[in-house]
Amino acid sequence: MTDTVTVKTLLKMKAENRKISAITAYDYPFAGIADAAGVHIILVGDSVGMAVAGDSTTLGVTMDQMIYHTRIVANATKHAMVIGDMPFLSYQVCLEAAIANAGRFLKEGNAAAVKLEGGAAVSDTIRALTSVGIPVQAHIGLTPQSVHQMGGYRVQRDEDRLMADAKEVEAAGAFSVVLEGIPADISEKITATLNIPTIGIGAGPACDGQILVLHDALGITDRHVPKFVKQYVNLGEAATGAIETYVREVSEGVFPSKKHCY
Ligand code: KIV
Repeated sequence: MTDTVTVKTLLKMKAENRKISAITAYDYPFAGIADAAGVHIILVGDSVGMAVAGDSTTLGVTMDQMIYHTRIVANATKHAMVIGDMPFLSYQVCLEAAIANAGRFLKEGNAAAVKLEGGAAVSDTIRALTSVGIPVQAHIGLTPQSVHQMGGYRVQRDEDRLMADAKEVEAAGAFSVVLEGIPADISEKITATLNIPTIGIGAGPACDGQILVLHDALGITDRHVPKFVKQYVNLGEAATGAIETYVREVSEGVFPSKKHCY
């Protein structure tokens, strides 16, 4: 990929029926790898709290942490669109705070857009952000910041509500919407109804694009991997093997050898 991916690129890809690939990243090395591999969107997800920090939910992630991770991802990214994920309570309290926090992702994090969770309930927030020039990706269905209200990470099956949420976020000005944990037939109907691209995670193949959490896709996780994840490589196993070899070579005096000495 040569050009930088923008909101316009993504809308054109939907219109031309070309699939969009998205992945999360939280740091410079992996963002560079994902960007060079040709991914269209790099989401600096608040999943950083679980994938990197080892928390059991995303709720503890702060604005300062998100800005730090977004900036180091943006430093490595030449082509993909970098989207910063707004953490819990950074956009729900009032519109002024939502604008100020979203603005930080663009000003300090060098992101091109923000993502926030919720459907009809956040449509005023989406309007407020887009009215000041901040592109917004919405996120409906299984919304991890509402884990306690949902009673766990559960597939969402209320078709009328999901369709209404999808239409609301589009009408409010979102340029794209993540569909998470939604039966494939409902995602297909939403994707056919909307003009903006749908990006699915656990939402079936009909979505305009797909997103995975990087650490799940690369096998760097010690937690339960959900059914919808495809693990493309087991980097965790490879890294463990490499470090075991290092430990053995140090204890046997094999490393460092002559070629590693000054
Ligand atoms: O935080 C995140 O990584 C996300 C994606 C899974 C969509 O919200």
